[in-house]
Amino acid sequence: MITIQKANEHDVMGICRVCRESYWETYTGILPSSYIARIVDQFYQPTRVVSEVTHQEWWVAKDNDGVLGAGSGGMTGTDVCELYVLYVDVRWRYHGIGSGLLDAITEECRAQGAKTQWVSVTPGNLKGIPFYESRGFVFQQVIPAYAQVDGENLVSLRYMRKI
Ligand SMILES: CC(C)(COP(=O)(O)OP(=O)(O)OC[C@H]1O[C@@H](n2cnc3c(N)ncnc32)[C@H](O)[C@@H]1OP(=O)(O)O)[C@@H](O)C(=O)NCCC(=O)NCCS
Repeated sequence: MITIQKANEHDVMGICRVCRESYWETYTGILPSSYIARIVDQFYQPTRVVSEVTHQEWWVAKDNDGVLGAGSGGMTGTDVCELYVLYVDVRWRYHGIGSGLLDAITEECRAQGAKTQWVSVTPGNLKGIPFYESRGFVFQQVIPAYAQVDGENLVSLRYMRKI
């Protein structure tokens, strides 16, 4: 049985594995590999994720074999929230796991007063954009991508929905 729950310290290695594998699989061909390598090393490494899990920032979908999907989100203003991360193991896509994680993260933010929810998506990410659009997110603007070094000139698309 698959459950969706707040992550604990036992989930850290599974979160890192799913996010690293999915990040490479999703962005190879649409982002430079030097950027992908830098992001996965910076954000999806155990020391950082342990700290975030301790602060209750991650949700996981798991079964007896371990983590199948992971996501995080939180409040960014009094009535505004952000979906920071959402990845599902490639072998487990289209089984409702991403929707379940998004619903859990959204519900928690709604309970804290969020009325709008934002997410950043990479242009050309056809594994993410259709999912968000089918969940009511609407494109708003283009911004510089996060964690860039000089000269990369990468952008992200900002999507928003009312919740
Ligand atoms: C996006 C993602 C998290 C969704 O998780 P998932 O478990 O595969 O999705 P679910 O099974 O919950 O939901 C699938 C729904 O989204 C739609 N959908 C998802 N991806 C789609 C795609 N590529 N094309 C068309 N529809 C898609 C399906 O039609 C389905 O809608 P329905 O339930 O109304 O029929 C997952 O596919 C993933 O990890 N993608 C790659 C990583 C990524 O891009 N993450 C977002 C980074 S910003």
